[in-house]
Amino acid sequence: MEQRIKALREQMEQQIAQVNSKEKMANFWQSFLGKKGSIAELMKGLGTVAKEDRPAMGKVINDFKVQVEEQYNILSERMEQLELQARNRREAVDITMPAVRRPVGGLHPLTLVKNEIINVFSGMGFDVFEGPEIEDDDHNFTRLNVPKDHPSRDMQDTFYLEDDLLLRTQTSGGQIRVMDRQKPPIKVLVPGRVFRSDSDATHSPMFHQMEGLVVDKGITLCDLQGMLDQFVQQLFDADVRTRLRPSYFPFTEPSVEVDVSCFECGGKGCSLCKHTGWIEVLGGGVVHPHVLENCGIDPSVYSGIAFGIGIERITMLKYGINNIGLLFENDLRFLEQFKEA
Ligand code: DAH
Repeated sequence: MEQRIKALREQMEQQIAQVNSKEKMANFWQSFLGKKGSIAELMKGLGTVAKEDRPAMGKVINDFKVQVEEQYNILSERMEQLELQARNRREAVDITMPAVRRPVGGLHPLTLVKNEIINVFSGMGFDVFEGPEIEDDDHNFTRLNVPKDHPSRDMQDTFYLEDDLLLRTQTSGGQIRVMDRQKPPIKVLVPGRVFRSDSDATHSPMFHQMEGLVVDKGITLCDLQGMLDQFVQQLFDADVRTRLRPSYFPFTEPSVEVDVSCFECGGKGCSLCKHTGWIEVLGGGVVHPHVLENCGIDPSVYSGIAFGIGIERITMLKYGINNIGLLFENDLRFLEQFKEA
């Protein structure tokens, strides 16, 4: 038996030298300390040893077992060290390496201007409502005081869909939708995409408008001008003024065209204002009594003002863009100029 232990001890030393993985460690444990391992086998063999030699032999086996266990512990510590080192190597971060820069996008100039307009008017207590882009004839025209055969329908080149449906030509239909669901006081903005069969350097078949509507007791054209003064001063320049010129829209009476004093030359006359000192920016007026009636609001009690802003037009004026196409081509060289720092 002593021979056997000696052989096993040699075997142990050999095996230890070869252990370089967790798997081999487990094998090592199995072959010496496992249930069917060499030490269990030695213990079993103790029965065949002469009775008087058994205690001494038992001690020898036991010493061997302790020795194997010690070796195993040393080994597992070494394995852990190795693993930790390997992991450190694998996960090492080189903090001197240049970072991967992710390109950060920016808002489209039309979105910037839209948000700016909403900001100005929400400061005056306006809510925002959005209507559908596919609209019915009733909301887009009829209830806005534009009956079926009225010549003013020709003011807008409409894309008709089937039946009574069309691509909305203006966000003014939002006025009807708002007044149908809400009674005065009303103060609302209706931003959105609109569509007209029209295309040149300053017109696009799809563009954006921002409708404004205020309905309450005692609202007058003065309220319109006061609000629009605020608007142009915040968007263009603190020194600009507005001027109202008589105009015609079926849904307002009186109707006005709103000009802003030229923010480029201060009103002296330049190429931007075509030497007039004024730039046309939007249309508006006092809500026609028929429109209020069409929404169940009594025009002898309430009055309203409304306006329609072309977002492309304001954007082009504000940033000096001379071709509307630039706003829709999505050329990054153009768009990156609007990136906020
Ligand atoms: N909807 C008109 C257009 O597209 C703009 C407009 C003018 C809207 C006067 C209004 C308004 O609400 O009162 O040309």
